Amino acid sequence: MNKRILELFQEFPEAYVSGEEISRRLNVSRTAIWKHIEELRSAGYEFEAAPRKGYRLRSKPNSWQVNELLSGLKTKVLGQKIHVYGEVESTQTIAHALIASGAPEGTIVLAEAQTAGRGRMGRTWHSPAGKGIWMSLVLKPRIPVYFMPQLTLLSAVALCRSIQKVCQVDIGIKWPNDLLIKGKKVSGILLESSGEDERLKYVVAGIGISVNLKREDYPEELRNIATSLAIESGTDIPRESLVQAFLLEFEDLYALYMEKGFAPIRLLWEALSVTLKRPIRTNTPSGVIEGIADSLDDSGALTVITQAGEKIKIYSGDIEL
Ligand code: BTN
Repeated sequence: MNKRILELFQEFPEAYVSGEEISRRLNVSRTAIWKHIEELRSAGYEFEAAPRKGYRLRSKPNSWQVNELLSGLKTKVLGQKIHVYGEVESTQTIAHALIASGAPEGTIVLAEAQTAGRGRMGRTWHSPAGKGIWMSLVLKPRIPVYFMPQLTLLSAVALCRSIQKVCQVDIGIKWPNDLLIKGKKVSGILLESSGEDERLKYVVAGIGISVNLKREDYPEELRNIATSLAIESGTDIPRESLVQAFLLEFEDLYALYMEKGFAPIRLLWEALSVTLKRPIRTNTPSGVIEGIADSLDDSGALTVITQAGEKIKIYSGDIEL
């Protein structure tokens, strides 16, 4: 039915089509039409609804321009193998399966939409069609498992720097790897890994960037805490350019990390942080910690100084600023 509704709108490009007309032509009730329009909206189609006029198809969902993406890609390894999907549960799940069938380092998985996008700490990630970068990147670093937090911080630096290069926005990193604009989250990173003999076998770096979402694309409960690059910069951003910039930035930082270790990455992270030297609060299994976020240690843990002057390290979890 959704297909037939779209065909009908294609007959009247730019025009309003009344609910009555749709109902008569397709022989369905007005309630059923509304339900189908809502389904199409969540698949990325934008409709305007006007009283007494009906519906107008404003835009269709964007789709990934793979040739454009590949032709402008300046990396040697990352993104040289690309798998593109329409709607998937999670690009992470697909990347894990591709690794099991031999996908090499640098393989990326991109989707238009995710129905069960995974966030950190068991949360879900809102991933509507055609509006964002929902991507998983396959890495095979031969480093000890306990260096994973460093890779998380490296990913945040690569993401922050590439967004700064492509978009005019004032963006910073909240420990460990949330990207914020004016206090609202615009991007998140989820690293999933598998190890063997205390070394990493592979890492799937899941990158979610809310690129061209508009305010109405967010559910009510996210509107005050999440934002997009388009909302903040006032203009739509070509997703392909941002993926190219991110992969290049990541490849350069990854090479630097492999050669020189975490120290240079740590300096870059500190320069982009919106957390350090500010009061923070976090819930840990042993209770609430409040204090001033002081520094990052060599492993990527956050050192917090409490009011009593005690230094406490936080290794994982969420902080409130
Ligand atoms: C976070 O909670 O901040 C991390 C969000 C990570 C979302 C991305 S979107 C692409 C990839 N696939 C997923 O299911 N999750 C990650």
